[in-house]
Amino acid sequence: MVKFSAYSLMISSFTPFHSIILKNPCRFYTNIPYSYSTKSRNISYYIQNAKIHTEDVMVARRYLPPLFSVAPMMDWTDNHYRTLARLISKHAWLYTEMLAAETIVYQKGNLDRFLAYSPEQHPIVLQIGGSNLENLAKATELASAYNYDEINFNCGCPSPKVAGHGCFGVRLMLDSKFVGEAMSIIAANTNVPVSVKCRIGVDDHDSYHELCDFIYKVSSLSPTRHFIIHSRKALLNGISPADNRKIPPLKYEYYYALMRDFPDIKFTINGGINSVVEVNAALREGAHGVMVGRAAYNNPWRTLGHVDTAIYGAPSSGLTRREILERYQEYGDHVLGRDGNKRPNVRDVAKPLLNLFYSEPGNGLWKRKADFAFQHCTTMKSFFEETLAAIPDSVLDSPIAGVPSGREDLFANIHDLLPSSYDAREQEALDA
Ligand SMILES: Cc1cc2nc3c(=O)[nH]c(=O)nc-3n(C[C@H](O)[C@H](O)[C@H](O)COP(=O)(O)O)c2cc1C
Repeated sequence: MVKFSAYSLMISSFTPFHSIILKNPCRFYTNIPYSYSTKSRNISYYIQNAKIHTEDVMVARRYLPPLFSVAPMMDWTDNHYRTLARLISKHAWLYTEMLAAETIVYQKGNLDRFLAYSPEQHPIVLQIGGSNLENLAKATELASAYNYDEINFNCGCPSPKVAGHGCFGVRLMLDSKFVGEAMSIIAANTNVPVSVKCRIGVDDHDSYHELCDFIYKVSSLSPTRHFIIHSRKALLNGISPADNRKIPPLKYEYYYALMRDFPDIKFTINGGINSVVEVNAALREGAHGVMVGRAAYNNPWRTLGHVDTAIYGAPSSGLTRREILERYQEYGDHVLGRDGNKRPNVRDVAKPLLNLFYSEPGNGLWKRKADFAFQHCTTMKSFFEETLAAIPDSVLDSPIAGVPSGREDLFANIHDLLPSSYDAREQEALDA
């Protein structure tokens, strides 16, 4: 049987959903081919980045996924963490925590609390979740005023709170038609690119073919041209979200097979990638983009500190951790109490800092001092005065050390493991 690119069928089969929910029904993407070499990607990346905030239509046409992004992580990638992350890396793309469409719609009068961020956080992606088309449309439209660089739709969260009630998150992978409609509606209510973050399967629906059917359907029914693939399936049998990020095995070969079978769609790989060495190993094998979650939160200095130089080939900010904390203090003291009811408090604002000295001398003592200081400090200035003595000057004032080691061979031989090609014609025949 002659195999051919699945996506070549899609342009003709794309049908936007015309309804009152659509705001921009004519929006569509054109794919611009580009070299897979990381060096030339750097140049085109900067060109893209320079234009990204000004030419909305061109953004869609020139869309490239970020080479490196920090994953959306509920309760973790909040404004405070993102402020810290941006002080460490200028080029990493930052994803928000997932925000339910209903929250945006019902908190219409209070949107800054959920959607506002400082301009330094660009490039930044808003992740939304939901299963009600009207709310997704309204939420996207309301969020448009905040100028996010991309809107991402959550189809990967296995939490029973999310996957159970209202049936959103990873359960949506079982209803690709709905996701296609949702993405069509989201795209119609924003001028920035849209993307889907998903797993490689759910429970027994875990074959490569089923994953391809999902990608094929969603991209046929909507202008979605970027998928972030958390390369393990989700189990909806009651295991915790944390176990769902550990127990199902990673299958990077599915990710690389998607790139082979859908050459006009961009894919970002995610799951278990812990250092810039491993990020570069994925890019060397042709990955369009790499998303890192836990490592960027648990060890932000060492994970993000090399992103600008080792991944983007750009100069590093050169800031030491003392300088980063000085700037963070200004931010922190400015936002303390902003939401009312004394929130955020010093504990909230300092939370992402607690991993800044991961495995460095003084780290344990600093955390103990911080715990004590949280009980009475009311400003970030006083918090730092009371706790930072625990960290030696040599740590506070040293620039980022050399690139930490990682599994350079994480993706070696991956192309020998790929499942057999997806044939979109079979799916089309079934759909006919
Ligand atoms: C605390 C925590 C919260 C998370 N919240 C979200 C979320 O809101 N939306 C989402 O798509 N994924 C969420 N994830 C999953 C991550 O985005 C990512 O896919 C996962 O951690 C695998 O990447 P990693 O191995 O690099 O951590 C969360 C992960 C963690 C650890």
